[in-house]
Amino acid sequence: MADSNLAVIILAAGQGTRMKSATPKVLHALAGRPLIGHVLAAADALEPERVVLVVRHQRQRVEEAARTLLPRVEIAEQGEIPGTGAAAEAGLDVLDEGFVGDVLITSGDVPLLGEDALAEFITAHRASGAAASVLTARIADPTGYGRVVRTASGDLEAIVEQRDATEQQLLIDEVNSGTYLFQANDLRRSLAQVGVDNAQNEKYLTDAIGVLVREGRPVAAHVIDDPMLVQGINDREQLAEVAAELNRRIIRRWRLAGVTIQDAASTWVDVTVELGQDVTLLPGTQLRGTTVVQDEAVIGPDTTLVDTEVGFGAEVCRTHSLSARIGENAHVGPFSYLRPGTVLGNEGKIGTFVETKNVTIGHGAKLPHLSYAGDAEIGEGSNIGAGTIFANYDGVHKHRSTVGPQVRTGAHNVFVAPVHIGAGVYSGGGTIIRKDVPAGSLVITQAPQVNKEGWVIEHRAGTAAAEAAEAALNGDQNAEQSNSRTSGNE
Ligand code: UD1
Ligand code: CA
Repeated sequence: MADSNLAVIILAAGQGTRMKSATPKVLHALAGRPLIGHVLAAADALEPERVVLVVRHQRQRVEEAARTLLPRVEIAEQGEIPGTGAAAEAGLDVLDEGFVGDVLITSGDVPLLGEDALAEFITAHRASGAAASVLTARIADPTGYGRVVRTASGDLEAIVEQRDATEQQLLIDEVNSGTYLFQANDLRRSLAQVGVDNAQNEKYLTDAIGVLVREGRPVAAHVIDDPMLVQGINDREQLAEVAAELNRRIIRRWRLAGVTIQDAASTWVDVTVELGQDVTLLPGTQLRGTTVVQDEAVIGPDTTLVDTEVGFGAEVCRTHSLSARIGENAHVGPFSYLRPGTVLGNEGKIGTFVETKNVTIGHGAKLPHLSYAGDAEIGEGSNIGAGTIFANYDGVHKHRSTVGPQVRTGAHNVFVAPVHIGAGVYSGGGTIIRKDVPAGSLVITQAPQVNKEGWVIEHRAGTAAAEAAEAALNGDQNAEQSNSRTSGNE
């Protein structure tokens, strides 16, 4: 339900120095989305009146990505003063005096904090009647986080950053998640009183909490049940930890929804992937992007599918697939490479050591072994012989070829595009097809075979081959034995 009394400000202007990356921190990928994508999705799900993203470092890139992820996002630019407080002020400027409701502030680098946990926080804040609330967590290793300092009676007193904390305060295991709720005008007023007198010479948003406490306003701290949800990402070690945790949660969700996943540790599934009932994922499977797998399909082992659709009951084994469509009950692999534009019909087959690109393979058609098919159409029920190449590239341009239905081609053919092979055609082994073939023809191109008898014995005298030939021609009873002895010595 839309919440007209709520605005969300997401802080994403920081440099993210600890990532040591040319890519802004909030654009690093996590389970199929940039970090900021997870935060924007959670914010949007709350249906707030406004969503503001505060940017500065590599503004262009972050802004572009954010607009693609959530077109309604408003962008605020942080000025010269550093710190989360200055960032929040920039966000407030975009909201302007017109907005007087609750402001939820979250961080672009806390990606697991989803809609449910945020909604719970909002409900608790509104029920408490506090002027402001902080979402906190108790964690085993609080290093790096701001510590939540409470009075003897348990009320929130201040939030102290790691670098500004005393020895005593460093022992506190309750940390600030970086998520807050303020009444917009309270936040404006309190931030105006915050300076930069701290170890980092930054304007801290946490100090706005201190201002309200000193004013005697009620400020609440809500401890989250699941501390993993507020794990911030500052370096790549934390990114990997959060990625592993999110993956465990995604796998658990799909298992409970009826998917068999043998090995959670080696199976990676993006948040954007859809899986049907009784799908089986074997070890070493990665499902990325907009991949959809229909009921009863079996994927893996050792398979990566990116933006790929897999139909009911299909089997995809040891395969790498990009933007492809695999039909119902089709078979792919082992060792297949499906490139963008591959469409495999129901009950079709793309087999071992086969590469495909921009190719439509009809119902029940097969490309079983050692082949390349690009820019082509293969008709229903056709079988393409082993080792066949669709030569689609003339060095300058790509051309398209077609193979009609129920065609049977011999092994090791080359189809030099553009070429059209009619319905029901047969081709001999080693045929190179450069001209169209009418329906129902047998097509062969090889030169007549020539046997030069005795050539080996004459020109390669003394070799194992010559000896074997001699023995065979002399009808030597030991021929086979001597043969196997020779080859065994190689
Ligand atoms: C911040 C909190 C800390 C909390 C932790 C939780 C402050 C002063 N500290 O510390 O109490 O435990 O988050 O994860 O708030 N940002 C800006 N502009 C800036 C600086 C930061 O927009 O000038 C953004 C960053 O892009 C990031 C977020 O604010 O998304 C947090 O900044 P970061 O530098 O990671 O703060 P922490 O040191 O983690
Ligand atoms: Ca952080």
